[in-house]
Amino acid sequence: MLGEVTAGDAVLDAAQDVLPTMVDLRRKLHRQPELGLDLPYTQSQVLQTIDDLGLTVNVGKGLSSVIADLDTGRPGPTILLRGDMDALPMPEDTGLEFSSEVDNRMHACGHDAHTAMLAGAATILAGMRDSLSGTVRFMFQPGEEGAGGAKIMIEQDLLDGVDAAFALHVAPNAPDGIFGWKPGPALASADEFDIVVKGRGGHASTPHWAGDPTPVAAELVLALQTMVTRTVDAFDPAIVTVTMLQGGTVHNVIPEHVNLGGTIRAVSERTRHLVWDNIRRVAEGVAAAHGCTAEVTIHEGYPVTINDPAFAAWAASVADETFGLGHTYEMGSPIMGAEDFSYVLQKVPGAMLFLGVCPPDNPNPFEAPSCHSNRMVLHEGSMATGAAMHAAVAIKYLSSGGDLSA
Ligand code: NI
Repeated sequence: MLGEVTAGDAVLDAAQDVLPTMVDLRRKLHRQPELGLDLPYTQSQVLQTIDDLGLTVNVGKGLSSVIADLDTGRPGPTILLRGDMDALPMPEDTGLEFSSEVDNRMHACGHDAHTAMLAGAATILAGMRDSLSGTVRFMFQPGEEGAGGAKIMIEQDLLDGVDAAFALHVAPNAPDGIFGWKPGPALASADEFDIVVKGRGGHASTPHWAGDPTPVAAELVLALQTMVTRTVDAFDPAIVTVTMLQGGTVHNVIPEHVNLGGTIRAVSERTRHLVWDNIRRVAEGVAAAHGCTAEVTIHEGYPVTINDPAFAAWAASVADETFGLGHTYEMGSPIMGAEDFSYVLQKVPGAMLFLGVCPPDNPNPFEAPSCHSNRMVLHEGSMATGAAMHAAVAIKYLSSGGDLSA
């Protein structure tokens, strides 16, 4: 029988050994950011990095995903570790020596670091395969920023045989090396809505002969905010933000219609669906009150990312064990951004934790540029922490036979 392998100094040492490779990979990806589901350069760099680790590698069909299995050949559970790989369509203004070389593309959400940390974890764990029992599945995912790459990978059998899943997201505006964790909802759902208020066009000097949709649209912007505060439980919150309001072409014409659009965020499926229904009712009702009509379209986006409470607490305990007490904190509230790791967590228990990566020379980490900022920078040394955490979670999960209470 195998003795229990504990995550400890060996993992931390191995993570330091692999850090130069992670820095090199991260900088290559940072220079050449790719968008969406098609990331040929990124995929080739990942395949090259993990090539000699003895993993069973499968690439996606119609997307640049990589699923790599470390199968120890010994019985045990399967844990999935995830790193997303895509960048954002935005300019970079960090001034880094390895800044993006592609106009209007930037790794501003740290997915370059996620990819490097996952490749680092694969290297660490492959070096320890003789003392492991079970399987570690590495999920290198394209298309997190809106394209739902995780959902497509699930349709391509990503989760077959998987017992639990774990992911890290960097937090460049949180203290370096500290893990934030949260049981239950960790990130919001993100849906979009469009409303077309239809009236009757006419001359601006004779509104009584027309059916003016403009004041209806204005009333609707406010009515939607009132709807949120009066119908949504303050402890199960939602956000409705109107971000687009378009109508009219010239000063003396009442337009036939006015368009509104915006985003809906929620942290429970119950409130998410309540808000969809309420937007429809309020829009149609306010429009009808003024003799207009409203057509509402809800574009369903990523669901709420819900951490399994037991797994999230367990993962935090693995961090405490690996890095020492004081390296974790329980988050008081979810993040209102969204994640397509939510689709994975709908199918298998697991958790996403947040890793603070603010450069240690910044005296005010909480004021540092966040993810999606054109000035976002991260401390590359913390990739050793992230890779060690991935590895420690896998080692602990396999050595306990998937029993979180063991
Ligand atoms: Ni992200």
